Formats: sequence, C-alpha cells, structure tokens
Amino acid sequence: LSTIEFDLTKVQEGQQVVIKWQGKPVFVRYRTPAEIEQARSVSMGALKDPQSDAERVKDGHQQYLVVIGSCTHLGCVPTFGSGDFGGWFCPCHGSHYDTSGRIRKGPAPINLVVPTYEYVSDTRVKIG
Ligand code: FES
Repeated sequence: LSTIEFDLTKVQEGQQVVIKWQGKPVFVRYRTPAEIEQARSVSMGALKDPQSDAERVKDGHQQYLVVIGSCTHLGCVPTFGSGDFGGWFCPCHGSHYDTSGRIRKGPAPINLVVPTYEYVSDTRVKIG
C-alpha cells in the first residue's frame, strides 16, 4: 500500500504505536506536555540537523509526532525512553534522538525522517 490511514485514538498520551508503511516501521507518538516542552526549548544551535519542533509536526496537532522508526545511521530500530535526550536511543551504535526525533548525539547524520502525511480528520492521519 502506498498510503495508510491511522486512527489516532488508538494511541494513549505518553505512548507510541508502531505501524508498518511501505515495509518500514512508523512511530506514531502521542507526546506528553513535558515531551513537547522539552522539544521546543532546544536552541537550533544545539542541533546537528537543525529543524524546529514546529516544522516536524502539524499545526494544532503538536502532541502527535509521526516519524519513520529507522535510525538514519544504518537503519536499526531505535527504542523510546532510553538515551540522553528523553527520546529514542539506537542500540546499534549509540545514536540518541530527542522528543522531536532529532539526532542529538552519536553517528546518525540526520533526524528521524518525518514521512509525508496529512490529517484527514481530527483523529485520523493518512501517511504517504
Ligand atoms: Fe543506529 Fe548505527 S544504526 S546508530
């Protein structure tokens, strides 16, 4: 399938759901207010691949982060809740991502990729 729809009511605050899209895992994370605050308080100068949190989510839906769950180093699947920046950690070679999925430390060259997606209703996204 080139596109897939996902019902956001299936993910609880502070959790993520992993869906498969074009053979890749996609993380849909419902961020807590603390995670959002953490993502938004970082200065651009601290980022290896500078992107604001606002650029990585949709207006009015900042609680939901949608990223391809594949480390941008060599493609391992990072895990949430470990690492030094409150987001994901890739155990393969030690890349640390923040709560916006941005690379903060380790060998990965760029942020976790935000796929093309849109809101088809307030609680439904279409990825692809
Ligand atoms: Fe993730 Fe190398 S594949 S750090």
